[in-house]
Amino acid sequence: MAGITFSTAQRDAAKHLKEFYGIDVNDPEQLAKMEINVRNYRKRVERSFNKQNVLYKAGTYINSSLFNGNQRIDFLFTDWKPDKQKNVVKAKEVANRCFLLAKKMFAEPQKALLSGKPGVGKTSLAMAMLNALCKKNLTVMTVSTLELARLMQKRIENKDVQDKLDYLQNLMETVDVLLLDDFGTEGSMKNESKSVRQDLQEYLFRIANSRIDLNRNEVVNSTIITTNCSTKDLETMYNPKLISRLLPHSSDNIVDFTGLEDLRV
Ligand SMILES: Nc1ncnc2c1ncn2[C@@H]1O[C@H](COP(=O)(O)OP(=O)(O)O)[C@@H](O)[C@H]1O
Ligand SMILES: [Mg+2]
Repeated sequence: MAGITFSTAQRDAAKHLKEFYGIDVNDPEQLAKMEINVRNYRKRVERSFNKQNVLYKAGTYINSSLFNGNQRIDFLFTDWKPDKQKNVVKAKEVANRCFLLAKKMFAEPQKALLSGKPGVGKTSLAMAMLNALCKKNLTVMTVSTLELARLMQKRIENKDVQDKLDYLQNLMETVDVLLLDDFGTEGSMKNESKSVRQDLQEYLFRIANSRIDLNRNEVVNSTIITTNCSTKDLETMYNPKLISRLLPHSSDNIVDFTGLEDLRV
């Protein structure tokens, strides 16, 4: 790998990056080992330089993540047992695809979608991706979409909830890898007051917009979405523009769990 030259501003950023990610800019071997090519590395330098309010350190599983309560957050790829499924080949395939997606995400930010019916292992494999990326020194965060919708409902009468939502938004906008778990489940709350629904859409819009660079049509930070809904369903629940910004467009980044069975029953 060729030597890298930096401007003064970039050198400052690089110094920051070293503290932030533990990456030594002057050691190409270290960069290679971390599977970062120069282009991506520069992007990451620039990005971290732009992060004015650093809220977390490298390799952090953000502890203000919103969980749904009954999730094993320490799930690893080695915990995945394909023979729990009748269709062992398919079970192996989805895990492999998620593993490769995590690898791709480490090299360059990606949007990913894991879709399929409940109990087939989407959240588990998404957690495995997060844990792998966290070990590689990225900051990761899980947000249960249903919990987020609940907070939205409570925020009007409770100032603390609003503060928490503001804090969460800041994290969700900037974290390296964001998992939006069970996206679309909050659609069952459709009959609730319309303003709440609109609030949630606007909230997610702000987050989606800061995770992509609309001008350059580039993904800035990685987002993983798990859902039981079809894209069509999601587009009727949400503004299609939001769906287009959150969901990947390339089939390479979509893992379809169809063919696997609900292991919760
Ligand atoms: N192939 C598998 N190997 C090990 N555990 C699995 C596997 N598939 C599903 N599970 C377990 O089954 C339960 C449901 O999986 P989960 O990931 O929550 O499904 P989903 O998010 O698709 O609803 C979890 O406890 C999960 O750990
Ligand atoms: Mg799930």
